[in-house]
Amino acid sequence: YRNLKIALLGAGSVGSRVAQLLLEHGDELASRVGAGLELVGIAVRDVDAERDVSLPKELFTTDAESLILSADIVIELMGGIEPARSYILEALNSGADVVTGNKALLALHGTELFEAAEQVGAQLYYEAAAGGAIPIIRPLRDSLAGDRVKRILGIVNGTTNFILDRMDVDGDTLERALATATALGYAEADPTADIEGFDAAQKAAILARLAFHSAVPVEAVHREGITSVTAAQVERARRAGYVVKLLAICERVVDPVTGEEGISARVHPALVSRLHPLAAVHGAKNAVFVEAEAAGDLMFYGAGAGGLETASAVLGDLVSAARRHVAGGPGVGESFTAYLPVVDIGKVQTRY
Ligand code: NDP
Ligand code: HSE
Repeated sequence: YRNLKIALLGAGSVGSRVAQLLLEHGDELASRVGAGLELVGIAVRDVDAERDVSLPKELFTTDAESLILSADIVIELMGGIEPARSYILEALNSGADVVTGNKALLALHGTELFEAAEQVGAQLYYEAAAGGAIPIIRPLRDSLAGDRVKRILGIVNGTTNFILDRMDVDGDTLERALATATALGYAEADPTADIEGFDAAQKAAILARLAFHSAVPVEAVHREGITSVTAAQVERARRAGYVVKLLAICERVVDPVTGEEGISARVHPALVSRLHPLAAVHGAKNAVFVEAEAAGDLMFYGAGAGGLETASAVLGDLVSAARRHVAGGPGVGESFTAYLPVVDIGKVQTRY
């Protein structure tokens, strides 16, 4: 029985739960993999910081670089661009597979990271990077790889869905609802990322890339947040049979200038009919509605945020990476050049 060495970078909301579950259920996961999963260390900024979850003190280190070099699989849950980007490249170049939930990094440097993985025959897993606990990366990349996705409509930011839901159901103000969402731990450290749509745009870039097998730079995603949505607009929508949702919309379109096929990826508030399944997504929940040519309509629903919930997606990736180490096999070929160009058609349709 072989032991795989697992390095964890970050022990915040998600990382601490990943460590906890790995230590609690390691034997069970090992039996699913056919190899031991040994957590060899956890890199953090402050080894003495108070944490929500009690974890063995001796696992903590501030020396992320040495930890990375000792591992077969590296789990990056630090967030941010640097040093996360450099650490992931270092891990891949040392032959380790990497699991990450870092949507900001993938949206900005995904192409570089996937190419680096492919060059060394390593694999980069990121199920937690869009939709938290919801399995959506694998279905788009694997299960629907033989189909043609026409459109994705996603509620991919829990904070803004919580706020709009409060405005709709309780008549709350945006400011009060945001304060509650922050207190409940849904919002980013800087909630501008949520309410101005940056977080949803990062997730839209990740989903569009997979759905349309094309490079989708996050800067090409049309973005509008919810700060201009008023209580009066929410009320008017309600009376007309609609609910206001911040949607990430990714679809095949025809470029109005060239007449050629392309992709539009955009994030903006939209009117969703109360009869549409997305209208029933309340609170901080997320859902991704996929319209595919052969499969028809599919909907993926669940917790879009939360440490424990997101840890489920991270551990699923860890099991996949560990199985690959045991059984061998190629990567899944995520480094491709653009197939469809991204077309900026702005905000063309606001009712779904
Ligand atoms: P937190 O801010 O709660 O935790 C970050 C952790 O990383 C902390 O333990 C921190 O150390 C450590 N860290 C940060 N910078 C460094 C550094 N330079 N060197 C070493 N350690 C560092 O983040 P979350 O757990 O909320 O999120 C982690 C990732 O998962 C992010 O990419 C996020 O976008 C993503 N994600 C989060 C979700 C959520 O619901 N929270 C949902 C889906 C994805 P210390 O504790 O010492 O400060
Ligand atoms: N702030 C994010 C949200 C966290 O509200 O969806 C999960 O990505």
